[in-house]
Amino acid sequence: MTDLQIRKMNFAFADHHVPFLWNEANPAWSSMSNAVSFLAIGFEKMILSLMREVIPTITDPAIAEEADAFMRQEGQHSAAHRQHVRGLITSYPGLQETLDEVVGEFDRLSAETSLNYRLAYTADLEATFTPVFKLMLDNEATLFQPGDDRVASLFIWHFVEEVEHRSSGLKIFNEVVDSEFYRMQMAPSIFNHVLKVIMIACEGFNDHVPLEERQVDAMSMFARYRAKQKLNKWLPGRTYTYNGTSPRAFDGLKLGEQLTALAGVVRSQMPGHNPDHENLPALAGDWFQRYDDGYDVTRWYTASASANGGKS
Ligand SMILES: [Fe+2]
Ligand SMILES: [Fe+2]
Repeated sequence: MTDLQIRKMNFAFADHHVPFLWNEANPAWSSMSNAVSFLAIGFEKMILSLMREVIPTITDPAIAEEADAFMRQEGQHSAAHRQHVRGLITSYPGLQETLDEVVGEFDRLSAETSLNYRLAYTADLEATFTPVFKLMLDNEATLFQPGDDRVASLFIWHFVEEVEHRSSGLKIFNEVVDSEFYRMQMAPSIFNHVLKVIMIACEGFNDHVPLEERQVDAMSMFARYRAKQKLNKWLPGRTYTYNGTSPRAFDGLKLGEQLTALAGVVRSQMPGHNPDHENLPALAGDWFQRYDDGYDVTRWYTASASANGGKS
């Protein structure tokens, strides 16, 4: 029997302006995490259609149940990220084009690639989430706390549920495809696609969000782009466009923690990887406890203050 719980959330994005620069203390992180919101909508849409296709073929009832719960959690994530991005599009209408391009990339995968490829895609990318999101959740005091509470709470919820269902993608892949070799063989093409989609989102941010509101060059998270910009700036005959500064989203995070996350990403792609053995972020445990206690997790940082009349 699966332990996954389906939790419905409403982050009140329609209530008031959704800022692009949702954590003013870290514009590079604001931009990067906004790109994650766009990616999540497309990726999770693909997962939903993939699970609908694959569940009827799964003969092990426990795996079929896991796949169903996994699909439902991802459906909730996708819906919440759509609300977030809808808020951004209200403020920056050109981003609709960006969202269409991102979703179009995943619709193309659904239409043109095999079921096995999409299962490998899901298993590979989901396997990276626990080490990467642990890095982010372990640094919530700087990455999330100073920001817009709705956006912060959306990401915290999503990331802890990714930790909760960290084994689902691999379990389903192993049940249906059962080839570590195939999964590893497909990894380069899968991660190239992930980077391509994030690049589409970041190009859209540069095109459609005014520099004074995004503050950074959204594309500067890509080393190849930074190198190209340098060449464009210094070599004669090249066209150079200044798109903003290039700070790193994780500059304030400990190098050791970043390297641990990187090692976790590499480990997640190895044969026989079992996410059950991963180190988990402490915040995930706290979040599940607070949720079970009835705390308003859609306002992670402000709910306790308002419950106490703003005294705590
Ligand atoms: Fe998700
Ligand atoms: Fe997931």
